[in-house]
Amino acid sequence: MHPAHIDALARDLATASLTGEGIRALVGADAEAALGRAVAAPARRAALRSPGARSTLLRALVLGDPVPTDELTDALPSLGLDGAVALGLIALAGDTARPLVAIRPHAYRDALGEGEWWIASDLDELAGIAPLRSDHVLGVGGAARTLASLLPPTDAPVDVALDLGTGCGVIALHLRRFADRVIATDVSERALGFAELNARLNGVDGIETRLGSLFEPVAGERFDLIASNPPFVITPREPGVPAFEYRDGGRTGDALMAEVVAGLADHVTAAGEARLLGNWESVGGAEGLDRAGAWAGDGLDVWAIERESLDPVRYAELWLRDGGTLPRDDDFPRLAGAWLDDFEARGVTAIGMGWIAARPAAGRAPLRRLERVSQAVALEHAGAHLRAALDDAAWLATVDDDALRETVLVASPDVTEARHQLPGAGGPNVIELRQGGGLGRSLSVDTALAALVGASDGDLPIGTLLAAIAGLLEVDEPVLAADVLPRVRELVQTGFLRHLP
Ligand SMILES: C[S@@+](CC[C@H](N)C(=O)[O-])C[C@H]1O[C@@H](n2cnc3c(N)ncnc32)[C@H](O)[C@@H]1O
Repeated sequence: MHPAHIDALARDLATASLTGEGIRALVGADAEAALGRAVAAPARRAALRSPGARSTLLRALVLGDPVPTDELTDALPSLGLDGAVALGLIALAGDTARPLVAIRPHAYRDALGEGEWWIASDLDELAGIAPLRSDHVLGVGGAARTLASLLPPTDAPVDVALDLGTGCGVIALHLRRFADRVIATDVSERALGFAELNARLNGVDGIETRLGSLFEPVAGERFDLIASNPPFVITPREPGVPAFEYRDGGRTGDALMAEVVAGLADHVTAAGEARLLGNWESVGGAEGLDRAGAWAGDGLDVWAIERESLDPVRYAELWLRDGGTLPRDDDFPRLAGAWLDDFEARGVTAIGMGWIAARPAAGRAPLRRLERVSQAVALEHAGAHLRAALDDAAWLATVDDDALRETVLVASPDVTEARHQLPGAGGPNVIELRQGGGLGRSLSVDTALAALVGASDGDLPIGTLLAAIAGLLEVDEPVLAADVLPRVRELVQTGFLRHLP
């Protein structure tokens, strides 16, 4: 680390306004949006038309383009060319500076507010690099954004958080907003170098990096918050199949995922929580989601959410493309064959991809909620929703049906009702409840449940509402209750109904 150089770099980036807003102002919103799709040409074209420090830094550090040294000297008045070389940002070749790393603004919004960081990482597809180096350090991608959005919001910072497999350290930066201290681990020394650079570049203290595999660097330690976007990609362990450190943990199948989830119980505090991304295999007749739910053991509540399931062919294609091998490439048939051989040999029929939220079950029977959620989810609500849903699961476990009848519930403010009926029909054929937040669920309900949700305004207990609805519908109350109460529980669990504290 060269702290003085990093501070000088931060000053230069700020002076040039190499921010999301600054880039939009320079190249236009469409070209800026294209950067997110790894399309550089429109931004390059616009930047070349508006020379200046921001244009030079955009081309060099965002796009990875070689730039004239005199331009870069002007764009880095505090750091200077020598400082940029010392930091490993560029290599000099005559009058040209060739970028060696990317530095890009990353905007975020969470429960505490919004902001932006500069994130340094290896040059990638946006800079025309393919295939990536085997020790490539990822920049901020969709997976990191998703994981960041799953973090539980906290009113007051917790003591200590763990980012397992930190890469460039972006999740550690997010965790630091919710924790006084963050331990960021990785097997890659290069990754830890980027994580340290990024913390300093953004003026964030309290992040300690540790080298080592999985939980080894934190043996015997517990954390109030654990987050990991682990190297979960399933890769055939066969000579000649490239492995990428950023996505491949070197185990067979989903064994690394299983190890990470199994390790949580020994490393989360009694009131702590964990959020992971992962992949799980359906193998030998056992559903991947069931296997993932069992990895944590008996002491943890686990909520595993499968967002997508791919067959082996599509899975192989996805990760071959990610590694820079396209179906038209000569090597594609051999590599795809290796992936399919591996899946076939182990009886894998599908690979699920999704999220895991876990926390100690505190002496109760642990929650095992395993579900497939394929609809679009507004990620800004996801972290708060997972936290609330785990709280609700714990509360529901303590409430029998008699107690539930005594409870006053209130419909969540984001819930709307849609009624569909055939033209000319006297009443609705379908009543649908939709939630704007949560996991963006919608579900069909019958008249009784729609009436109960509609009447749940925080005034009368469920038992009173059930009796009134039974009277209106002219059905036996106990029969109605037996039908409706389990569904009321599910509506609480999924955030359509809230219980008042
Ligand atoms: C998918 S990347 C995630 C990086 C970053 N946290 C993010 O979300 O963008 C996985 C990271 O795990 C690291 N890694 C690979 N094997 C590991 C292991 N056995 N133990 C800990 N980290 C590992 C890789 O070097 C890589 O930085």
